[in-house]
Amino acid sequence: MSNKNIQVTLANRPTGWVKESDFKIVETDIPKPGPGQVLVKNLYLSLDPYMRGRMNAGPSYAANVEIGSVMVGGTVGEVMESNNPKFKPGDTVSGYFGWQQYGVSAGNELQKVDPKIVPLPAFLGAVGMPGLTAWWGLLDIGAPKAGETVVVSAAAGAVGSIVGQIAKIKGCRAVGIAGGKAKCDLVVKEFGFDACVDYKGGNLAKDLRAAAPKGIDIYFENVGGQILEAIALQLNPFARIPLCGLISQYNEVKPHGLDNLVMLLINRVKLQGFIVSDFAAHSGKAVEELAGWVREGKIKYRETIANGIENAPRAFLGLLKGENIGKQLVKLF
Ligand SMILES: NC(=O)c1ccc[n+]([C@@H]2O[C@H](COP(=O)([O-])OP(=O)(O)OC[C@H]3O[C@@H](n4cnc5c(N)ncnc54)[C@H](OP(=O)(O)O)[C@@H]3O)[C@@H](O)[C@H]2O)c1
Repeated sequence: MSNKNIQVTLANRPTGWVKESDFKIVETDIPKPGPGQVLVKNLYLSLDPYMRGRMNAGPSYAANVEIGSVMVGGTVGEVMESNNPKFKPGDTVSGYFGWQQYGVSAGNELQKVDPKIVPLPAFLGAVGMPGLTAWWGLLDIGAPKAGETVVVSAAAGAVGSIVGQIAKIKGCRAVGIAGGKAKCDLVVKEFGFDACVDYKGGNLAKDLRAAAPKGIDIYFENVGGQILEAIALQLNPFARIPLCGLISQYNEVKPHGLDNLVMLLINRVKLQGFIVSDFAAHSGKAVEELAGWVREGKIKYRETIANGIENAPRAFLGLLKGENIGKQLVKLF
């Protein structure tokens, strides 16, 4: 094995749209595990929209990345050396080593993952953080009942594609919103949603009404902006909105507000923001159920995989612009 560890660090805090020059590719030595530590070779890196927020200076629910520090991120990989009795070389683990090829850890935040249950990269997607986000957001906050209509935005993506499939498992009508005909076709034909609205098609309100003729009982919010405003006009009384993400706003210097907030009042709508880590202590049952559904073929997933750590910045920009289908990953070796 080469003795170099290639990392991607934060070079600048972007204003507005992130650029590749906001990142720096750095080469360091592979770290040595100290007493009680393990050395992990990261095989896949997860790229996620929340990373855009970590590049900012302002306050958030988690610490920002400092200029010159390695970008944060979830990883799956293989233990190479271990001074920790809980791990041995060859174990496969998920961790949070960030945008780099190798990392050392005391092991506390590492989880052993078994690639015989689902393929290793799926622990970063359908059976990992995005799958858990869909599971908790829809089932705990959305509380779907059979026969209700569930609408989810960014429906061809990592979280959205799972939300609609869980909605179908629970007996709901699942309607996706995605950018472009190709993504909408995939959402219906492969992920099994009942309908999908192309928000770039120019008829969002009309197309939504046709796709959700009985109104919307749950809107799983991933994007915000004008899509949320269009949804607000078609919510049923006592609708629920799990507020998961606002990706349309992450690169905006002046974020879009919600002009028709009054519709939430009139319809007694419950809107709740959530962060998946709030549920971390109870994740076991969700992981088990998601893995079971994947193995039974009840949940299908897609991945968009960039090759090589040097291509992580480019792939991250692509994710924010909607170039990914399903979970965006980087294969590191
Ligand atoms: N609360 C939590 O704990 C938590 C955890 C995970 C993720 N999230 C949030 O969940 C959302 C989805 O995350 P993900 O990892 O599953 O990403 P993803 O959906 O796989 O990828 C992002 C997608 O967002 C869509 N998008 C980008 N700009 C948009 C815009 N202006 N309007 C509408 N859609 C736009 C693009 O799809 P199109 O081509 O369809 O536009 C893109 O493919 C994000 O907002 C993320 O921050 C929250």
